[in-house]
Amino acid sequence: MEGKKPIKIMETVLRDAHQSLIATRMPTDMMLPIIDKMDKVGYHAVECWGGATFDASLRFLKEDPWDRLRKLRDGFKNTKLQMLFRGQNILGYRPYADDVVDSFVEKSIANGIDIIRIFDCLNDLRNLQAAVNATNKIKAREGRGHAQVALSYTLGDAYTMEYWVSMAKKIEEMGADSICIKDMAGLLVPYKASEMIGAMKAATHLPIQLHTHYTSGVASMTYLKAVEAGVDVIDCAMSPFALGTSQPATEVMVETFKGTPYDTGFDQNLLAEIADYFRPYRDECLANGLLNPKVMGVDIKTLLYQVPGGMLSNMVSQLKEQNAEDKYYDVLREIPAVRKDLGEPPLVTPSSQIVGTQAVFNVLMGERYKMATKETKAVLRGEYGQTIKPMSQEVIDKVIPGEERITCRPADLIENEMDKLEAEMKEWKQQDEDVLSYALFPQVATDFFKYRQAQQEKVDPAQADTKNGAYPV
Ligand code: CO
Repeated sequence: MEGKKPIKIMETVLRDAHQSLIATRMPTDMMLPIIDKMDKVGYHAVECWGGATFDASLRFLKEDPWDRLRKLRDGFKNTKLQMLFRGQNILGYRPYADDVVDSFVEKSIANGIDIIRIFDCLNDLRNLQAAVNATNKIKAREGRGHAQVALSYTLGDAYTMEYWVSMAKKIEEMGADSICIKDMAGLLVPYKASEMIGAMKAATHLPIQLHTHYTSGVASMTYLKAVEAGVDVIDCAMSPFALGTSQPATEVMVETFKGTPYDTGFDQNLLAEIADYFRPYRDECLANGLLNPKVMGVDIKTLLYQVPGGMLSNMVSQLKEQNAEDKYYDVLREIPAVRKDLGEPPLVTPSSQIVGTQAVFNVLMGERYKMATKETKAVLRGEYGQTIKPMSQEVIDKVIPGEERITCRPADLIENEMDKLEAEMKEWKQQDEDVLSYALFPQVATDFFKYRQAQQEKVDPAQADTKNGAYPV
């Protein structure tokens, strides 16, 4: 085996692939019949859980996301399960107290997660420490749990190779088990990947995983160069849910490395059976409009404007609501300006929504920061953490004049909140995990709890007043 280094693959079809292509709408029932085969492939891990899968399960599919996780855990006997975790924001949109982070990590692992990929939308590592510590505590106690810290990849003056290398070293020092480069917008081009992976591998002993999206059309070439440069794991999606705004296709990457030192050893016939299973569902999604052919092509605007695909589609719908679609290019120009004012953060949930929405406001109001969103104010106050560059003093003075700004780790100022959350929702609690669902999405989770109770009491859901969230019992 001298000189061989099989490339490892994380399969995303149960999380990012359907999140990126069909708005996270794949139901658990679609997943269960195929996991027996998926379990035999030899994947490094299967990604199956994250903020959007959790939210969409409760909101649209009326499923308990914890129940999905337990069912997947039951089925995947040999394969590690991975989730995506937004640092101190957990799977939600605001910073939570450390006790909620601890409890969420604990319950995620207890219900079946092996690897937790933790990222922060500002790449402020202080926002990741609590989740890393919580994972390590469980690992020490139970021998299960792996903390992977993800760097949100972005472009900009401050994001030099020295920056990425120094971040890799800090991640190793903070006690993580591996590093992920998370390129949510498909901005990492092949030769840059080569340089970056080479430099990071030289600086750290930790395994490095690369996550990208096909949006800009370079992703499989980026993987090729990254693998040659020594990356350990690449994230791929089974072909029916690959490409476009999703990941490179698993089967294609497997074939690419066949007979090389990077050969995965995967069985293409088995992969073909799995693809055969998902293909009719893809056709169904195309037919019912859930899968829009528009997201399947190459969107070169991503490279031009460096804006993730999801952020662009949000912006389009915000402009449509205001009958201001003609302002599209004005907003596209305003996005980098707002990003600069806010300290040049990466654009990933939730910073992408915050920057995008503020840019829309700035253009529609005809005056920059005439109105600032609650979230923009929070970013300026330092409530989301520290940005790589200083924020604009002029904007700070205009939006939050005279207000105090924080420089400590934001969660240091948040009092433990589990008891309060539990008190608020106790009438609905059927399992400890329900408190966490409520913590993340209070309204959506409460609606789900009402639905669940109505189901248990055998109320015809057709009679329920879903508009007002009322279920007659
Ligand atoms: Co992704």
